[in-house]
Amino acid sequence: MIEPLLPEPLLPETLLTVEGLTKRYGHRLACDSIGFTLDHGEVLAVVGESGSGKSTLLSLIAGEVAADAGSVSYRMRDGATRDLATLSEAERRALMRTDWGFVRQDATQGLRMAVSAGGNVGERLMGVGDRHYGRIRATALDWLARVEIAADRVDDPPTRLSGGMRQRLQIARNLVTAPRLVLMDEPTSGLDVSVQARLLDMIRGLVAELGLAVIIVTHDLAVARLLSHRVLVMRSGRVIETGLTDQVLDDPQAAYTQLLVSSVLAA
Ligand SMILES: Nc1ncnc2c1ncn2[C@@H]1O[C@H](COP(=O)(O)OP(=O)(O)OP(=O)(O)O)[C@@H](O)[C@H]1O
Ligand SMILES: [Mg+2]
Repeated sequence: MIEPLLPEPLLPETLLTVEGLTKRYGHRLACDSIGFTLDHGEVLAVVGESGSGKSTLLSLIAGEVAADAGSVSYRMRDGATRDLATLSEAERRALMRTDWGFVRQDATQGLRMAVSAGGNVGERLMGVGDRHYGRIRATALDWLARVEIAADRVDDPPTRLSGGMRQRLQIARNLVTAPRLVLMDEPTSGLDVSVQARLLDMIRGLVAELGLAVIIVTHDLAVARLLSHRVLVMRSGRVIETGLTDQVLDDPQAAYTQLLVSSVLAA
């Protein structure tokens, strides 16, 4: 039995509402009317086979890809709920920089490869208005230490870091501005099993400590079990099943989820 990530929220409050999100590529429906809500501090795992629309869903939520239909609303820090489609591009970018994080599967998309490790973290602080070099450097070093990147690597660009270090650097870069919502697309895939386990442990600790709301895309049900409160199972762009993580993984209702769960057990 895995202990819960966080205590039950006393006053669950919706942070994000996704309704009817739909995206077509030609005749293919990459996302077909996806809907869910996410509370403050809640972790939702989006699982499903390759091509089921998981990454498209994150891109739609982040506003990087325009939806054909549907909406995403978000409770801003001032308490107002905004339909993200009504934000200007500058407002959307500011929100992404200050209140959201996005950890990519491919670190080359999530990091600036020509900038040092310290710079990758520091520039995010500049992005939220910090202009004090000493403080920026100290905070960047502090975050690098938190994600177990040694101080003597601070001037190395990501090209000189290992795959696991790059993912940890992405985490530092995304969390340094204290976001409330973090999107993660397969943050541990492509890494050795032991590196994966350490990274997952680190993410789990930070999520619990910082009370982050997270949408984590993974094809790995073990990751969903370890990290999430709720699971959304996607297939061919549709939500096949959704529920509390232990409920969905221990007692799957949809035939497809049963297959996913049993194929993991058989593996
Ligand atoms: N830019 C694009 N142009 C055309 N088709 C696309 C584009 N992006 C995604 N698709 C298609 O949309 C569907 C969903 O893709 P998506 O990348 O969201 O899947 P996924 O669940 O993230 O898969 P994976 O686990 O392999 O990352 C796939 O059929 C894919 O080929
Ligand atoms: Mg993907």
